[in-house]
Order: sequence, then structure tokens, then C-alpha cells
Amino acid sequence: MAAAEFVVVANRLPVDRIITADGEEIWRTSPGGLVAALEPMMHTVDGAWVGWAGLPDQQLSPFEADGIRLIPVTLSESEIEEYYEGFSNDTIWPLYHDVIEPPQYHREWWDAYVSVNLRFAEAAAAAVAKHGTVWVHDYQLQLVPEMVRNLRPDVTIGYFHHIPFPAHGLYAQLPWRDQVLRGLLGADVVGFQRTQDTANFVAAVKRRLGLETKANAVTLSDGRRVHAKAFPISIDTTPYRELARRPDIKARAVEIRESLGNPKRILLGVDRLDYTKGIRHRIKAYGELLDQGRLSVEDATFIQVASPSRERVDAYMHLRDEVELAIGRINGDHDTLGHTAIRYLHQGFPREEMVAMYLAADVMLVTALRDGMNLVAKEYVATRADNRGVLVLSEFTGAADELRQAVRVNPHDIEGVKDAIMTAVEMPKEEQARRMRSLRKRVLEHDVDVWSQSFLKALDDASHHRHSAE
Ligand code: G6P
Repeated sequence: MAAAEFVVVANRLPVDRIITADGEEIWRTSPGGLVAALEPMMHTVDGAWVGWAGLPDQQLSPFEADGIRLIPVTLSESEIEEYYEGFSNDTIWPLYHDVIEPPQYHREWWDAYVSVNLRFAEAAAAAVAKHGTVWVHDYQLQLVPEMVRNLRPDVTIGYFHHIPFPAHGLYAQLPWRDQVLRGLLGADVVGFQRTQDTANFVAAVKRRLGLETKANAVTLSDGRRVHAKAFPISIDTTPYRELARRPDIKARAVEIRESLGNPKRILLGVDRLDYTKGIRHRIKAYGELLDQGRLSVEDATFIQVASPSRERVDAYMHLRDEVELAIGRINGDHDTLGHTAIRYLHQGFPREEMVAMYLAADVMLVTALRDGMNLVAKEYVATRADNRGVLVLSEFTGAADELRQAVRVNPHDIEGVKDAIMTAVEMPKEEQARRMRSLRKRVLEHDVDVWSQSFLKALDDASHHRHSAE
């Protein structure tokens, strides 16, 4: 296979395995945000994508899906347990999300993380053309930048961190804290969601490695400079705007409301079933509003979409039990034969159905306890061309830095969440429109293209800088 000018490295390949009607197996690119952002790039330049196809022990040769060259990395069952479920999602994920659940530290998990990161790095180093570019994504692959640099010092390397980077007091818990920082510093540009994440990273580098730092740069002992900067990610707004205009989707939104018995208001939550999302807090607040008679099920029905995620990790299993117990209790106490309090859907849905739900929702509840960005908030805003609907948004999300006209909440303050829900439910149309117009302006002007273009521009600048210094 010819070498690629531009190589994306991410834990997952951007494809879903589809079995056609006549039993044939095909791969289709999944409609995720990252592939949407990078697709134009992957087609215009000679691009390739290194990642895992999602199942154990799949020995797949490189292949093409929808014109994108894919290079699969194989993970064994024990590597899935130790690298993916273990170190990535039971050590780093909780540690970087403010230890909402206690991180688990195991040397075997770290060892698996190192060896799997090396496998991704080797695949990228083998695929990239001379003086090409490698763009590494997210917390599962923090060691890859340094590993690629060691294997291929000629290439330009970017890393984007999609989740929060914690303050030093928390970060310092990590037994392998210095190795991870060195791993990231292999990149020419390290991108974060928020200015605060960048500051936390730079402060950790200064304190732990004693390197010379500025707000947006680190100078290594060999003189090489690493740029660190915030590039808030966004969505491709086009499919959301287009679907929201389609008569059949609008009709589906009306049907959804009817299926719930035409409540006066629909509240909506859409999340992966993850403890960082504040689903329990949101349910508690809504349940108390019903208990206290401030709302009735005819006033406001709550749809919670919780898509299954990381289901073999203990903390996720416990979360599911807790959420389902709480919902069962609230529904038992408050449902009538014609109305339900919480319509709970432990499923993922196609984008068409999601847009119909966004159109049906009078209030969108995003109450994450910590979230790198939260794209659901942006998806909701992108669909609301009618300038109706209210976004309730946790101040602990990256999105809160940008979406200033949302109703802001501290999800830990249940009374505050209750008041925010009541404010949203009772908000006059004119105020909804005023806020939604400003939210839409921000989301439509700063879409995912702006994000990828600004990151790539920073990478390009870094590469010119480096080559002119050579
Ligand atoms: C977050 C992470 C992504 C991850 C996604 C889904 O958005 O930042 O890197 O791919 O969750 O999680 P999963 O573990 O299913 O890949």
C-alpha cells in the first residue's frame, strides 16, 4: 500500500459493520463527528485512518470504506479488558473527569496500555509518507505521539485531547504521570477543548518535568517547541439543519409528542449511559419537582435516551442499576394510565430519530458533572431553526464556555437544577427566541470545519517553524 500524506490515529475506526440482505459483510463509515470533520481532508489529500474495528481478535487487512483508507489494529480479548476497559476507561476516564468515580490503578493495565499504544504508533509510522502528518486522537492513545516521533522523526505530529485534562492535584495521583506527559509532548501541537485544560496540562508539565513553559508552549531540553492550545470541537451542523427541515421528521416530532399523551412540555436528556453525564442528578431534580407538586406528568414528561456504553466496566453496571431503580420509583409514584413521568430508552437511535426528538423537546437537559465539550447541546441548538426550546446546560461542560445564552446550572446543586427546569418550562417564547438566536449564531459559525481547519493550521505553522529551524 502506498504511503499516506495524512494519517489519523484514533482508538476506533470510523466504520460500522453491516450485513446486507444477501448476507454480505460490508463496512460503512459511521456518522460520528470526527469522521464528518475529517472526511473532506481524507478525500482531498492522500489519507489513511488507523484504529480498532471494535471486536476482539479481528485480523483484518487494510481496506477502504466510502473512499477512506482504513488500517485496522487488532486487540486481543485481554487487551480489550486491560487497555480499553481497564486503563483507558477505569483509570484515565474517571481520573480526568474529576474522580467522579474512583480511578483504579493496576500495573498490568498500564503495561497493556503501553504495548497497545506502541502497536498503534507502529501502524501509523508504517503508513505515513516522508514528511507527512500524523494526527492522534484522545486519551486512549496518549503515548502514541512520542512513540511515532521516535520511529519517524521526519513527520509532523498533532494530538487532540477530546476529554478534560485535570488540575494537577488530581493528575498527580497517576502513578505513570511523567510517562504520560512525555508521551503527549512527542506532538508538535497538543490541542485541548478549553483554555483551562491547556493551562492544567502546561502546569503539570512545568511541575512534573521542570521544563520551560509559556501559556501556549513548552520548550523541551533539546530545544524543540510544543504548542498547546484550546480548539473547542463542534459538530457538522448541515445534516442537523437539513433533517430538521424535512416534513417527515417534523411529522415524527408531532407523533412523538402524541405518543406521550400530548404533555404541555417535553424535557429531553440524551447521553451515553455514563456517570460523568449527571443523569442521576437530573432524574432526582425532576422527581422532586413531581413529589412537591411543582410539576405534574401532564405538565412535563421527561424522555431520557441513555445509549449503552462500556457495559463490562463495574462503574457503568452500577450506574445502570441506580438509574433504572430511580426511574422505576419515580414512574411508579407518578405515572397515570395516560401519561408517563420518565420515558427511558436504553438504546441508540439513528440521527433522523434524534432530530425528531430534538424538535419535540421544549427543554434540553445537559447536566454533566464534567464533560470535555458535550456535542448533544450543540446538536439540539443546530436543529432549532424555529428559535424555540430552552437549553439547560451544566457549567462543567466545555460547551458552557461558548453557549453563554443557555440556562446555566451547577448539577450538584439539586435545588438549582429544579429552579433551572422551572425557569425553562415557564420561559416566555420571546425570551426563548432571543436566547436561541444567539446560541445558533455561535454553533453555526463555529462548526466542526472551523475546528479541524484551525487545528490543522496550527499544525502546519508548527511544521514550517520546525523545518525552517532545521
Ligand atoms: C468519548 C471519548 C471518545 C470515545 C467515545 C465513545 O466521546 O472522548 O474517544 O470514542 O466517548 O466511547 P467508546 O468507549 O465507546 O469509544
